[in-house]
Amino acid sequence: MYICLCNGLTDRDIKSAVASGAQRIANVYETLGAAPQCAKCTTNIRDIIRETSGSSAPITVRR
Ligand code: FES
Repeated sequence: MYICLCNGLTDRDIKSAVASGAQRIANVYETLGAAPQCAKCTTNIRDIIRETSGSSAPITVRR
């Protein structure tokens, strides 16, 4: 399922980034070679980080 339409990122992409060590939203973008644009996906990315890593990842977005 697409999570970030601006960058074409799916839930699988994001889970893969978290598995590679991304613990913050900004890390997910960096790991996937993407950058936040509209930032509407940040809540969903945060939820996936929490589900995947079991952490309470803060919302951190660099623009
Ligand atoms: S939907 Fe992710 S930056 Fe726009």
